[in-house]
Amino acid sequence: MSEAISPGLENVNIKYTELTYIDGINGIMRYRGYDVNELAARSSFEEVSYLMLFGKLPNYDQLNEFKNHVLSNMVLPDYVLSTMKSLPKKSDALAIMQTAFSALSSNENNYQWNKENDKKTSMAILGQALSIVANTYRIKEGLDTVTPEAHGSYAESFLNACFGESDKEKVRAMDAALILYMDHEIPASTTAALVTASTLSDMYSSITSAITALRGPLHGGAAESAFKQFLEIKTPDNVDSWFQKNIIEPRKRLVGFGHRVYRTFDPRLKTFKEYARSLARTQEQKNLLEIATKLENLGVKNFGGKGIYTNTDFYSGLVFNELGFPLYMFTSLFGLSRISGILAHIIEYVETQERLIRPRAIYNGPGSMEYIEIEKR
Ligand code: CMC
Repeated sequence: MSEAISPGLENVNIKYTELTYIDGINGIMRYRGYDVNELAARSSFEEVSYLMLFGKLPNYDQLNEFKNHVLSNMVLPDYVLSTMKSLPKKSDALAIMQTAFSALSSNENNYQWNKENDKKTSMAILGQALSIVANTYRIKEGLDTVTPEAHGSYAESFLNACFGESDKEKVRAMDAALILYMDHEIPASTTAALVTASTLSDMYSSITSAITALRGPLHGGAAESAFKQFLEIKTPDNVDSWFQKNIIEPRKRLVGFGHRVYRTFDPRLKTFKEYARSLARTQEQKNLLEIATKLENLGVKNFGGKGIYTNTDFYSGLVFNELGFPLYMFTSLFGLSRISGILAHIIEYVETQERLIRPRAIYNGPGSMEYIEIEKR
């Protein structure tokens, strides 16, 4: 009888956290005790990042100081921009993002984890991340790279850096998306960052690890895949037959449904759905929204009985599309949102536990073997 392992580290707790609380049965999610939808409705990305990184919501002075630090760090060194530009144009957007962070890590030698350095570096990383993701979009679209200008908020500065313009409702939606995707306890990407940080490597290397893990289709790509389903369906009239032929008959999974933790609707869905509705302005966007709504109803009717409900990625792609982003950017937008959460987790881990993450594997290969010379094999 072999010893037990935990495949996928399922049900293994590797840290305590004061950051994100998830109740998967009742569909509740909170950051440091605050309901995520309330934060998305009433707060800004900067305020919530401050909350996650420093433990409480900021007052005006703290917020302004934080915002100024973050937005003054949007200048990327030339070697980072030229490295990003030198990659093949067809590169995956996340590959460009991970390469940029990896390039920035070349500046780090023997990083010292302490409150002062962690605070300064986190603010720098948030500013640089905005610039990296905006320029990823611009490079892939064949536009000139820019040093983003500081506008009223992080979300506004980001949309302006990408598109050269923004409007109030889009800025609010971008802000809400950044907040809702900011943290989700320790999924694969955050865990990858924790493993790196636990070796006392630097913060940029930890973020690079997280992005490389986020890139995998089992993690970051669901919003993109859910949206592809809507594109494939084409018109609301096709929803029933598409669902029957592509999901029910081949017993396939509907993307944007189901979750390892939630047995009910993903709580973040509520806000994404509201923005997906209010931002649908063109006929094409309204059409996609109608397809999504019909498909969601079918999904809930067929899978709700098993505790399989709509997850946040079902509607977030619609919002990203309505904001003007192409499909290939969806996972990078998720990544940009997640940076604050990852930083907060690695700081929390190093400051409170600082234990090298080094699990074991149970050897089940052959016993002692006699070496055979190559000519005799
Ligand atoms: N559509 C239809 N049936 C499903 C789905 C789905 N999306 N997800 C799970 N099921 C069924 C599954 O077939 C199984 O049925 P049965 O017991 O009859 O064999 C039952 O539900 C339990 O499935 P499971 O594989 O044990 O569930 P899991 O917790 O391992 O899966 C999941 C979680 C997210 C991998 C899965 O729901 C899935 O593949 N969903 C589609 C992809 C998707 O939307 N991914 C984004 C997830 S959110 C990411 C995040 O926020 O971290």
